[in-house]
Amino acid sequence: MNSSNKKPHNINITKKDAWQIVLQAKNQLSHRKKQKTYTIKYITNKHNLMCTFSIIKRRLVKKNFSCEEHIESMINMYLRLIFADSTPYFIGHLAQSLDGFIATKTGESKYISSKENLEHVHMLRCISDVIIVGSKTVQKDDPKLTARLVKGNNPMRLILDKKNELDNKYNVFSNKDGLGFKIISSKIKNNNDHVFSLPLQKGYFKFNDLKNLLHKLNKKIIFVEGGGSLLSRFFDSGFLNQLQICMCPIILGSGKNSFLIKVHKNIPELNYRQVKYHRMGPDILCDITF
Ligand SMILES: NC(=O)c1ccc[n+]([C@@H]2O[C@H](COP(=O)([O-])OP(=O)(O)OC[C@H]3O[C@@H](n4cnc5c(N)ncnc54)[C@H](OP(=O)(O)O)[C@@H]3O)[C@@H](O)[C@H]2O)c1
Repeated sequence: MNSSNKKPHNINITKKDAWQIVLQAKNQLSHRKKQKTYTIKYITNKHNLMCTFSIIKRRLVKKNFSCEEHIESMINMYLRLIFADSTPYFIGHLAQSLDGFIATKTGESKYISSKENLEHVHMLRCISDVIIVGSKTVQKDDPKLTARLVKGNNPMRLILDKKNELDNKYNVFSNKDGLGFKIISSKIKNNNDHVFSLPLQKGYFKFNDLKNLLHKLNKKIIFVEGGGSLLSRFFDSGFLNQLQICMCPIILGSGKNSFLIKVHKNIPELNYRQVKYHRMGPDILCDITF
């Protein structure tokens, strides 16, 4: 039987097709006005795939294909991010051990999480417009912060390096794609076009200044990839729109905490969070939208 004669739900898509639909949505969005629903079309070598995402229901409401539950939940997770309505939209992600550490005492964090979570991080990078990390993550890990594990483009990399301590040899800056930038204190002289300056207040950049800068640069989805100190400041200041904590089944015993935030005194006063759970190999991703 020819594929065009098949009933729609006989088309069963793979994770690869699902990722193509997500990438297509990201590309389509730049040409679109705000809508209540978005229809995404993607043509594989066998099928014309089509699905509709509802902004109000925040999930797919129509599709001409079927897929495993975890694949549909993955499509919904990425489309919610792509079609988020606040600009810029800040999403944070950390992979932590069961006892709450994101790295060993010496700063080693490669790799706390599974290959499935690592692939997810690369997908997040790919659909983001900017990745932000703190200077200590670059000093300790020398990460590339590219989306090399998945199909798609690398986003801009923005490192908060208030004292201008990082040289150009780090991978985030030396990559041929030229997408590595940093922000330093406006008190330090600078004539490098890959360096932005912002004022410090009590030793830190104000997130409102950062937000304005990202607005000027026309950047929408901002992926705050760590470390714990930077992400905790984002969390405490109420600037995060979404936070993903990947719980990894290991116990480190000691190390760098994922959260360094103001101490809450009274448990009954704390709000329980609405969490969506996603299985990633042996890990569980806890996905919280604020
Ligand atoms: N498991 C994971 O998912 C994951 C992800 C990323 C990184 N890591 C690990 O995390 C470790 C690094 O984390 P970290 O918490 O030590 O450092 P970090 O968050 O990468 O960087 C901290 C630096 O950024 C500065 N900073 C924070 N907020 C700022 C703001 N608003 N304005 C200007 N500067 C700001 C801090 O200043 P102060 O020192 O003055 O506070 C500090 O100098 C590494 O070992 C890395 O391997 C793990």
